[in-house]
Amino acid sequence: MTSGSSFDLTLALQVAVQAAQEAGRIQQDYVGRAHTIATKSSFSDLVTEVDGLCEAAIRELIAQAYPQHAVLGEEEGEQGQAGAEYRWVVDPLDGTVNYAHGFPFYCVSIALERRRDGESERLLGVVYDATRNELFTAVQNGGAFMNGQPISVSGTPTLRTPALLSTGFPYDPGDSRNLGLLAKLLAMGVPVRRPGAAALDLCYVACGRFDGYWELGLKPWDSAAGALIVQQAGGRVTDLAGVSRPDGPVIVASNGLLHAGLLEVLNAGPETQRADQ
Ligand code: IPD
Ligand code: CA
Ligand code: CA
Repeated sequence: MTSGSSFDLTLALQVAVQAAQEAGRIQQDYVGRAHTIATKSSFSDLVTEVDGLCEAAIRELIAQAYPQHAVLGEEEGEQGQAGAEYRWVVDPLDGTVNYAHGFPFYCVSIALERRRDGESERLLGVVYDATRNELFTAVQNGGAFMNGQPISVSGTPTLRTPALLSTGFPYDPGDSRNLGLLAKLLAMGVPVRRPGAAALDLCYVACGRFDGYWELGLKPWDSAAGALIVQQAGGRVTDLAGVSRPDGPVIVASNGLLHAGLLEVLNAGPETQRADQ
């Protein structure tokens, strides 16, 4: 809770929305142009000039409004006052591989968290998909919205209704942990997608397009905004053990109804892979 604080969350949301829309504008401005592409941790971990331009624009707008806040961004790391009470967590372009290939599934993700006594709480999250002009927003205890309209998770009761799930994979080709988990769901016949932008995957759970999503090896900027948006839309976000941990590297998000069933499959041994058991 933010009670006892005079911090204006409505104003902070406006700043986050403005920054996300500015980054989205930059992304669309550069669509179709030749990109300057470099690699980071592996040959498939790409970064374009647009990632940097977006992060710089977001940082500038946040700094204008909140010069005392820290900002953790994917491309430039954490900057600002060390241990600042408020920290923005920014993925300036989530879905860079898609973007670099002209595949229109990418977004901007901006979250604000408050750190006190070694604990942190998410105050707001904004994810903007400029290709569809879809703006997902949530404020702590304030519900979740797309373009200002309330959204909620789906009512799909079980994996075999059937549910539509999504997942993602880390860039490290040596990290194959998720292949086995994906195989279990595919072996059951559950439809699973791999769209390629974790923040949007989460927002699609929040608005009911996906019934569940899981991924291992996420970074804070991938999930900071989207996890809050799922929770505020009535969904559940845990780790593989079912512990509520929306800021961890392992995220299982769902409409809540099929969460236990999804966890059961993800944690099951290979002998329980078949759907008809
Ligand atoms: C990646 C995307 C992808 C997910 C990866 C992320 P990036 O973020 O969200 O869907 O599977 O784990 O690293 O590099 O495009 O910002
Ligand atoms: Ca990302
Ligand atoms: Ca990124």
